Amino acid sequence: MSATKNLAIVGATGAVGIELLKVLERRAFAVGRLRLLASPRSTGKTLEFRNEFVSVEPLRSDSFKGIDIALFSAGAGISSEFAPLAVKAGVVVVDNSSAFRMDPTVPLVVPEINGDDVRGHSGIIANPNCTTAITLMALYPLHRAFGVRRIIAASYQAVSGSGARAIDELRRQIAATAADQDPIPEVYPHQIVSNVIPRIDSVLDNGYTREEMKLQNEGQRILHHPDFRASVTCVRVPVFRSHSVAVSAEFERSVDLEVARAALISFPGLDLKDDPAADIYPMPIQTGGTDRCAVGRLRRDVAFENGLSFWVSGDQLLKGAALNAVQIAELL
Ligand SMILES: NC(=O)c1ccc[n+]([C@@H]2O[C@H](COP(=O)([O-])OP(=O)(O)OC[C@H]3O[C@@H](n4cnc5c(N)ncnc54)[C@H](OP(=O)(O)O)[C@@H]3O)[C@@H](O)[C@H]2O)c1
Repeated sequence: MSATKNLAIVGATGAVGIELLKVLERRAFAVGRLRLLASPRSTGKTLEFRNEFVSVEPLRSDSFKGIDIALFSAGAGISSEFAPLAVKAGVVVVDNSSAFRMDPTVPLVVPEINGDDVRGHSGIIANPNCTTAITLMALYPLHRAFGVRRIIAASYQAVSGSGARAIDELRRQIAATAADQDPIPEVYPHQIVSNVIPRIDSVLDNGYTREEMKLQNEGQRILHHPDFRASVTCVRVPVFRSHSVAVSAEFERSVDLEVARAALISFPGLDLKDDPAADIYPMPIQTGGTDRCAVGRLRRDVAFENGLSFWVSGDQLLKGAALNAVQIAELL
């Protein structure tokens, strides 16, 4: 097989798609032909890749001829319809949407945690939910050390997690507020500037939102831990980029803070920033735009037996989406 791969990016013009191009370029992925696909609205646009301008084409059922790997990030509907067509054309799909994440025949992969699961794919590999991936980057090394039973968590999720239109919305609302005008919500049900919105995704019968249940459901698959439990409150905050999560975790074995620190420091892709008295802790303003997640505010939990609380931040467009997808493509 050739050393270069012919790649298609479905959703190339979106918030994740643009990052995919940058990550491929930054990591010197051996791209042969590159096909950029989006909706018909983007016909005529070009995007820059390695100092060349590549035309964006409308996605069609025959878009995958001659392609080796397709990176999908155009929503679950598009993935459900077009990923099986791509697989039929001999393409391996890495999917950023939620369409296949709970399909037992589709590996759900964070390379640092369960990269070996990629081997079991039959054409499609799913990228996890962004909040799940970032939380597990800190939880997994602790799980290896002490055996996690359950967590209680609250997320602080950036607007770029809702795509390019939401980034524009926060920008517009900041400008409106500065000009003493009313911030008009379009993407979110309420203004996001100077506010936090404690609902992300649709509300389920059990009162949790779909986004909140992903941490338990996807976490069980990625950790190979069917008994893992997660009670999560997902909150949208007026931050442009990088999600943060406050986590209290209960473990099977007693927690030693020094062992926890050592486990976190040695985990790839993760930095320990933990000196709160000196104001050193992870913040989205630092993790935004970087590949590495950061964990801090480490403390023995006063409510859980064998408990540890921590705060983790990570760029959800990168580790939560584009970077993780390219890392999976590298494993292929
Ligand atoms: N944003 C994140 O942090 C994040 C993290 C993890 C996973 N994801 C997932 O990644 C996917 C994309 O998210 P995003 O934030 O990048 O959204 P976005 O900024 O809204 O971009 C959506 C992309 O999908 C394309 N698209 C829309 N309708 C299409 C159609 N009918 N045919 C072909 N392409 C179409 C858009 O093309 P046009 O520009 O032509 O409309 C655009 O390229 C979603 O499934 C999301 O759940 C996002």
